[in-house]
Amino acid sequence: MKFFVDTADTRDIADLAATGLVDGVTTNPSLIAKSGRDFAEVIKEICALTDGPVSAEVVATDYEGMVSEGRTLAKIAENVCVKLPLTMEGLRACRTLSDEGTPVNVTLCFSANQALLAAKAGAAFISPFIGRLDDIHIDGMELIEEIRLIYDNYGFETEILAASIRTANHVKQSALAGADVMTAPPAVIRGLANHPLTDKGLAAFLADAEKAGIKV
Ligand code: E4P
Repeated sequence: MKFFVDTADTRDIADLAATGLVDGVTTNPSLIAKSGRDFAEVIKEICALTDGPVSAEVVATDYEGMVSEGRTLAKIAENVCVKLPLTMEGLRACRTLSDEGTPVNVTLCFSANQALLAAKAGAAFISPFIGRLDDIHIDGMELIEEIRLIYDNYGFETEILAASIRTANHVKQSALAGADVMTAPPAVIRGLANHPLTDKGLAAFLADAEKAGIKV
């Protein structure tokens, strides 16, 4: 499973990239706004921190505007992946940009039929939003399972990017359901390493090592 970091905070991205666990980055307009930085400048900086795809989202909602913004974003760096909303206009723009060789991440997916459309439009990634479905008491994991089955039934190569991941359990369930990628905030990714028995066991080993005067 590939791990993308869902943030526009370049310090967090650099810190996590150093672990070798980061395969790409996703951003959205809200995350860019939170960074307080210039859009193009921050995307360029993020693209230099990873070799993997960096999703940068358009803000136009009409076909021509989305294609034009997508082409502008694609010029920022070779690893930009244009993020488009799952609307009919967005799907049309997805086909155009994909045919031009620009990878597209179709975002704000909340149903299997939407995911089917994105695959038919040539999307490189489909982003089902797990946490936002959970927020309205719908099981986001069922959606991942349905998309996996549909894509496998027809051999679609669009990668399932589990998004709006809020907990370590979301990561595990997405992996079990066969998502190709998950994107999560830095704190969720760091939290995956935590276990109280790891901390307890390590403390005991270190205490014994100190008592025995073990040096490596
Ligand atoms: C993914 O591409 C989105 O940026 C993100 O996962 C949204 O997460 P949220 O629902 O927690 O805002």
